[in-house]
Amino acid sequence: MPSESSSDSTRRITSSDDLEVSAYLEIAQEKAGHGKLDQAVHSAQKEALLVIDFGSQYSRLIARRVRESKVYCEIVQHTATWDEVKDLNPKGIILSGGPSSVYDTAAPLAPVWVYDCGLPVLGICYGMQVMVHQLGGKVAPAGKREYGHSVLHQNNSDEKLLSGLPSSLPVWMSHADHITELPPGFSGKAYTDNAPVAITGNDKGMIGIQFHPEVAHTPHGVQIIDNFLYGICGMGQLWTSKNFVDEAVSRIQKQVGGGKVICALSGGVDSAVAATLVHKAVGDQLTCIFVNNGLMRKEEPERIRNTFEKYMNVNLIFSESTERFLTSLKGVTDPEQKRKIIGNEFINVFDEEANALGKVDYLTQGTLYPDVIESKSSENSVSATIKTHHNVGGLPEHMKMELVEPLRYLFKDEVREVGIELGLPEEMVYRQPFPGPGLAIRIMGEVTQEKLDVLREADWIVMDEIKANDLYRELWQTFAVLTGSRSVGVTGDFRTYGHVIAIRAVKSDDAMTADWARLPYDVLAKISSRISNEVSDVNRVVFDITSKPPGTIEWE
Ligand code: XMP
Repeated sequence: MPSESSSDSTRRITSSDDLEVSAYLEIAQEKAGHGKLDQAVHSAQKEALLVIDFGSQYSRLIARRVRESKVYCEIVQHTATWDEVKDLNPKGIILSGGPSSVYDTAAPLAPVWVYDCGLPVLGICYGMQVMVHQLGGKVAPAGKREYGHSVLHQNNSDEKLLSGLPSSLPVWMSHADHITELPPGFSGKAYTDNAPVAITGNDKGMIGIQFHPEVAHTPHGVQIIDNFLYGICGMGQLWTSKNFVDEAVSRIQKQVGGGKVICALSGGVDSAVAATLVHKAVGDQLTCIFVNNGLMRKEEPERIRNTFEKYMNVNLIFSESTERFLTSLKGVTDPEQKRKIIGNEFINVFDEEANALGKVDYLTQGTLYPDVIESKSSENSVSATIKTHHNVGGLPEHMKMELVEPLRYLFKDEVREVGIELGLPEEMVYRQPFPGPGLAIRIMGEVTQEKLDVLREADWIVMDEIKANDLYRELWQTFAVLTGSRSVGVTGDFRTYGHVIAIRAVKSDDAMTADWARLPYDVLAKISSRISNEVSDVNRVVFDITSKPPGTIEWE
């Protein structure tokens, strides 16, 4: 399993590509003295599975798999009390893997209610060891660390968790500790060459497994998780986009009542889906604000306007602020300074527009579940990093608003499914992440209208070709950069001295690391020839073959 992520000061985004806007607003509220915005709103699901967190990377992956099986689940801290979780109507519990060893002095343990509540419990890897340790068995360092593929053999074939599966099956292991003594009432159910007890369980529905069913390397992993959810916990497939939309709409109606709501649209999928849900729930009580900072891609602001105003009939304030942003960016070349100015200007414009609406009660934000998990499990939350990163000023005292965060319990891919369910256009739902400061951090040096025009045209061609060749969705981000260099070229009989455009295309899962994409040569050739022919003042195109690390995805 990947090692536990540590705080990374170079990390500038998480799953939400609207995080930037959310962070601006959050900073603004905190500066105005409104305190922490985190809400303990539990989703109104009929039943839930609890994933007890012993290492957020592990639990997150498990939670995603459970949700993919259409079962609602939430990740809870290992310090949670029964009172904190009981309203979720838990039907089963999974103890996640984690990087610790149970015999470490500070090893996290499961709360006692896990073993007393009578619900089925599945311990995965560290989760299994915790269960064995807490229930009276023994865990010790294995002679040899087991990492990678293994073959699991069932002792007999009546284990419900493996129902429908062959008596021997491939699994993925990653452990340095193993079980040396079982707790009272437990018996061994399966073994591998290196782990004499790879599955153990008792007759009260407690099962421990040493391997990782949540990773793709365990081919029957989905079936094993499904067996636990449906066969052992007796849960139904209730977690669907349609159910989510219905429940979210009624929850929003309950929260907002007759109040007035605003939402800042960023052009990203999260704020678009959040706004659409709120609009479905309370109609004209919602006003969306889109701040056109003049730094977005070609035609993007207009598309946002069309989708929301014309197609969805949402009250939209389209704040044309290009001049204002460009004036504040005049002469600025330092990347962090650019970010700060753009953040500040965003808050000022947003404040002015919202202020003109009179009293507003609620602010809608597209906060996603990964950011909730992260801010709960660590002080180094991404929004905290962005906050220090930008150090932008705050909104004035009059903007006291309660948050409406309908996506707070969704993973990114679930947000996309909900977006499609709500009828949002695919190009918005599957948009690649785009940074809050936009093209300003893709223009090296000072940002001017002339440079923006050049970059926009070049970027349009990149997008056009990437989409025409069906590459858009498999790439994390693809874009053009105005490098700030000029080079000598020749057009007809004339020497030219034009801009150098760089093409950046990366593959990534989470932007923490990224690999440069091996774009086909003929696609690169077409992009290069189109840019140098169609974009005036550009005479050279280069391809960025740097991965992250050591490079970043953006150039600034
Ligand atoms: P880097 O360049 O740090 O980018 O590898 C990682 C991810 O973050 C995005 N990014 C930003 N997003 N405000 C944002 O909202 C920013 O200032 C910012 N800087 C980088 C970048 O596009 C990539 O997805």
